[in-house]
Parts: sequence; structure tokens; C-alpha cells
Amino acid sequence: MMKSGLRVVAGLVGALVFVGAVRAQEAAKVFRLDGGDVTYVFGVNDHKELQAMYWGHRLPASQVFAQPVRGREVASFDGPVTVTPHEFIGWGGVLYVEPDLKVTFPDGNRDLVLEYVSSEVAANEIHVRMKDIERAVFVTLNYRMDAATGVLARDAVVENATKTPIKLEQVAAATWNLPRGEDYRLHYVTGRWAGEWSLKEQPVQGGKTVLESRRGTTGAQNNPWFMIDRAGENDQDAGEVWFGALGWSGSWQIAVEQNVVKDVRVTGGPNAFDFGYQLKAGEKFETPWFYGGYSEHGVGGASRLLHRFEVDNILPNHPTPKIRPVLYNSWEATTFDVTAEGQMALAEKAASMGVERFVIDDGWFGQRKNDHAGLGDWYVNKQKFPNGLKPLIDKVHGLGMDFGIWVEPEMINLDSDLYRKHPDWVLNFTGRPRTEGRNQLVLNLARKDVHDYTLEWLDKLLTENKIAFVKWDYNRQWAEPGWPAAAVEEQKNVYVDFIRNYYDILEQLRKRHPEVEIESCSGGGGRVDLGVMRYTDEVWTSDNTDAYDRLFIQDGFTYAYTPAVMMAWVTDSPTWVNKRTLSLEYRFLSSMQGSLGVGANLKDWKDEDFATAKKMIASYKEIRETVQRGALYRLISPTGHEQSVTETVARDGKQAVVFAFLHSSTENYPFPTVRLRGLDENAVYALKPIAGKAAAGTPASATGGYWMHHGMDVMLKGDFQAAAFVLTRE
Ligand code: GLA
Repeated sequence: MMKSGLRVVAGLVGALVFVGAVRAQEAAKVFRLDGGDVTYVFGVNDHKELQAMYWGHRLPASQVFAQPVRGREVASFDGPVTVTPHEFIGWGGVLYVEPDLKVTFPDGNRDLVLEYVSSEVAANEIHVRMKDIERAVFVTLNYRMDAATGVLARDAVVENATKTPIKLEQVAAATWNLPRGEDYRLHYVTGRWAGEWSLKEQPVQGGKTVLESRRGTTGAQNNPWFMIDRAGENDQDAGEVWFGALGWSGSWQIAVEQNVVKDVRVTGGPNAFDFGYQLKAGEKFETPWFYGGYSEHGVGGASRLLHRFEVDNILPNHPTPKIRPVLYNSWEATTFDVTAEGQMALAEKAASMGVERFVIDDGWFGQRKNDHAGLGDWYVNKQKFPNGLKPLIDKVHGLGMDFGIWVEPEMINLDSDLYRKHPDWVLNFTGRPRTEGRNQLVLNLARKDVHDYTLEWLDKLLTENKIAFVKWDYNRQWAEPGWPAAAVEEQKNVYVDFIRNYYDILEQLRKRHPEVEIESCSGGGGRVDLGVMRYTDEVWTSDNTDAYDRLFIQDGFTYAYTPAVMMAWVTDSPTWVNKRTLSLEYRFLSSMQGSLGVGANLKDWKDEDFATAKKMIASYKEIRETVQRGALYRLISPTGHEQSVTETVARDGKQAVVFAFLHSSTENYPFPTVRLRGLDENAVYALKPIAGKAAAGTPASATGGYWMHHGMDVMLKGDFQAAAFVLTRE
């Protein structure tokens, strides 16, 4: 964790130490990180606790802070510890708010009081070491500031330097403290299968709101992300916003709490529910990273910072992750009825439209005729592919596309050779039911043998076949999360060890097959977080591919995550989801706001459909760099409106793309004037439609000022209508 070149601060006396964007006021033990437009300050208070001091607008470099002073007792019911804005606090003394660390020692002691020991600073990094007042339990807090966005990454490393094991019953990555304020409003997402990414907001009031997953993995019901803005400044692009995202794909929790003095704090890490990590003598436990940021440009500005941070700092190959190719996926066309000939026929049609990647989905392996059998048996099905995958892969390559394949490595059907051989490999409690979901059980990836088996067959698959892309699926969550083969006191380590092994397999595969790209999918968007995004190039947003529903889903998604990873397929109409009829052009425009794919049954398409698809795919290739890397402005959100409009401005400012959707015309009203954002006032931009029309009288080119302040009128009338435009700087 610690890098050489760090400067040890403890014990030194002096004024200000500058290391890059980090400043340590040594005498007062105050630490400061600056990045982007943000300053973050914390210090050691008069009781040797680490106390938050400031998080917000970047302050003048010359600003000096005095040593922080611990909160004052409110009454005998609320002592100082519980009203102090801690950076990271152990459960001990009179702490009643969410702790960062709760430990049980073998002798029954459960009191933990952490005090500052020392610190090290380097460019954009601070590491602070704390220790219990009596026992050899150390915690190192790591801070890394992103110089460009001001997004701060924090994690904690707990070290058991005692001579006995200790049980970690709760361990957070960090606590974020907001300035004192009473008008805060929390934004978060809820969802379920086929209905992910539903944006919610609620006031932050006395008490606690917990966003969480208890499901073993990330889940769609909440996502480990939050934004908090101020109710009085309700604008997409103006007003203060504090936000955070947790880099963990296991059960997780983020607690947003207003304490008795109305201080607001946000604590996040692995879920404390059913948690109990056995940390042996001499071992260290590193928490996930919790990323936090601040914007003065509303929820729009906050999500733009997050997008940029994800592209530049998180995704594989950052800061230049590869642009997503246009893919075709055969799932909705063939479901389990895959055959070499059928896939080849689809591949030919896909290639004719300009698709760059052909992906075979479920059904190619084992005895996978339906979802009752086959998971676990990762050999190519001989009836469907008598000569293996090679003829299909060769055909796909011959058509100028690369080849991708679907897998679901952590799952097993009871009707599989693997289950017949290793019934003990699944999560289970001895003698208890094994509850199935989609006729499958969850393999216990925490086990070394399961980890090794999984890595081995995946490695073999990628070694023996020219595969460019893996869609890694995960179609249920945990039940009976037992690990009978482990020592009783270590069985709950499954919550952590499973996820660490999952990451390890992804990491090993990427190392061994650096050209292979991976998608994270969980029956849709159930496994999207900044933990898995370090290893996966894209994510599946939702199984709901209804292009109108997708406007809402994509709106919620992009609050937290970049459109660069947001896979969006064009599928058939009427949609299986809602039986809604949507034009092909509308479906394309909806999907083109993310990473474009096609998932329709091309066998049923007519010539004019192919002509439309070819045109739209060609247009997408001209704008995708902007869509996937640019700054996204939500001009009209679909929720609560008959319209929705997004605009994305390229990083270099040379292009902007506008997508406009009309849900339903009412009472002969025209489409509202669209006023663009993020352009250069004085530069001239030429307007070109991708689809649809601007109103008569709209200039062919105009200044950024004109497009932003006068705006443009779009000709849209009817139900489920769509248009899109490109603006090119002249
Ligand atoms: C999940 C995925 C789908 C598809 C099926 C295959 O539902 O989200 O895209 O891959 O599994 O069984």
C-alpha cells in the first residue's frame, strides 16, 4: 500500500509541508488535499482523533487551519465522541452513530478507541496510521486525490498485530462528513430486474437512511452510489453537490445519517449484516475504496466529474480505455436455440450493417437446452457445434468482426456434471435447503478449488479460441451463504473472500489475455460498481431493452456511471417487455446515447430495416467518441416530462450531439425550445440532423451563444417520436 518516496510527518515540527497537491501543517497536524476545484481538510484533534474539517470549494493555498477541536457534549446522553465529525471511528466509548470499525476480541472485549500515531504524505496522497489505546490493532487510512476532478479515493487497512485472531464485525472504507446544513437532499437509485436505475430523492433529516445490498453481490435494488445536494439549489448544472461511490461488488452498505447536532455523515463499506471477518494474528484487512467528490455545478456537474473520473482512473486501460465497438448479441434472437449455422446466418446480416463484434450468448455449452441444465459444464455442445466454435469464429472474423462469448462462471445447475461431481462446491449450510433461483445455485468462489477450477476453464476457453470479448453473467443472488468446509470461525469470511476471488480471476484473465474485453452483467444491471469496473470494459445496463423504458433507465444510470460503459441494444418491436411499438429509428436513437449494440432477430428484418440500421450505425461511429467520452448534459429528464433531451459535448469541444425524444404530443403544443449547454459562446457550430428535423428557420450554423441562449426548435409531433443532431465546431 505505502509507496516509497512518502514523507514521514509524525514527530516533525514546522509550518506547512507541500508535497504536490497535499499539504500537511505539521505543528497543528492538519492535512489538506487539493484537486480540481475541491479542497479536503482533516486533522488530529485535541483527543488524538481524526476529525473532518472541510470538504468543498477549493480554498486559497495560503489558507492555514488551526487544530480541530472535538465536539462538545450535548447532554449526558450524547457525549463528545458521538457529535464529533470523525474521519474514521472505532466502536467504543459512547459512540452511537455508525462506526467505521467494530471488533470483538477473543477475551470478550468489544471496545475499540483509535488514536493518531503517525502519517506520511506524498504527491496527492496521505496515509495516516492509528492505533487502539491499549491493544495492537492498527488502522491505516489512505487518501488519494485525483488532481483533475477532485475525486478523493479513501480506504482503510486494519492490521491485527495482537497475538490472537480478532473478529471484524463491521468495517467501513471511510466516513464522509458534510458541512453543517439542514436542507440536504439525498439522491440514490432503486430497482429490480428489468427495472433498474430508478432515481429517487428524499430529504436528509434526523436519523439514518441505509442504502444496501445483503445479497452477496452488488444488486439492482440499490446501487453503491449517492449524491447529496441542497434543496434550495435544484438545478442540473448549478448548486453544491457531494457524492460518493463505493468500489465493492459484494454485500455493501452506505449509511447517510444526520446526528443530534444535525451534522450529516456518510459511512460506507461491506455490509455489516451477517458480517464477521476473522482476521488472524499478523493479518491485514484492506477495505474497498470509497470515492467521494464535490461539485458546484449541480447533479449534472457531479455526474460529469464522476464520468470523467471513471474513464480516466477506473476502467481498464485508463486513462485511454478503448472505445466500445458496435456489437451484435444473439440472445433475444435465438435464446438457447443456438447452432453453428443459425449464428453464422445472423453474423452475416450483422456484418452487413456495420457491426464490429458478434457475440454468442447463452446456450453454446454443456447440455444447455434451457435454463434447467448445463451451468458448470463449460465444454462446447457437440450437437450444436459439431466442429467446435472454430468454424463460427472463423466465419465471424471473415466477415470483419471480432468474436465474443457469454459465460456465467459462478453458477451451477443441479442438472450438470459438475454438480453431480462436486455438490459441496456451492454455498450451503449443512443439512439445510439449497434454494434455487432460475434453477441454479451459487458456486462458493471463496473456496480455493472453485476459484482454481473457474480460472482454469476460462483461461483454457480464451487460450484455445480467438475470443475478443467475454460477457460475464450472474443471474441470481445468494441464499444460505454457508461455507461448511471452512473452520466455523472463518465461515463468514465468505462475504469478502468470494469477491476477492472474483476480482482475482478477472485480474488474472486480463493479465493472461490482455486483448480480451469483459462485460459485467447480472441479469441486467445488477453488478455495476466501481469495484468491478476496474476489471470490466463495459456493463449490461438492463435486460429491459424497451427503448422508451430505457430513457428512464439510462437517465438513472448516468447519474453514477459513464455512458462509455452503458451497453444499449436495439431490439425488436413490439418489445417483449411492454408490447410497445417503437420505430426502428427511435430504438436506435435511444441506444445511441450509450454504447450501441443490436440484439434484434435479424432473420425477420426487411431490407428497409437493414438500410435504416446501416445508416444509424454509420452515424453512431461518427459521434461515439463524443457520447462515450464527452460531457453529458441532461437538458430535459424523462421523469415528469413528455419529452427527454440529452446533449453531449466532446472533450475537445469540436462536436456536440443532441438526442430529443417526444413521449406523447398533447393539445397541439410544440416541442419546447432546446437550449444547449457547455458550448463555446463565440465559436460557430454547424447543425446537421442525424434523424428528424429542426424547425423551419433554424440556422444551418450559429454561435455557441445562439445555441445556448436562443436555443433550437425541434419538429416532433405524435407518440414516441425522436430526433438527433450533431453540431460541429467550424
Ligand atoms: C441474463 C442476461 C441476458 C442473457 C441471459 C442468458 O438474463 O442479462 O442478457 O444473457 O441471461 O441466459
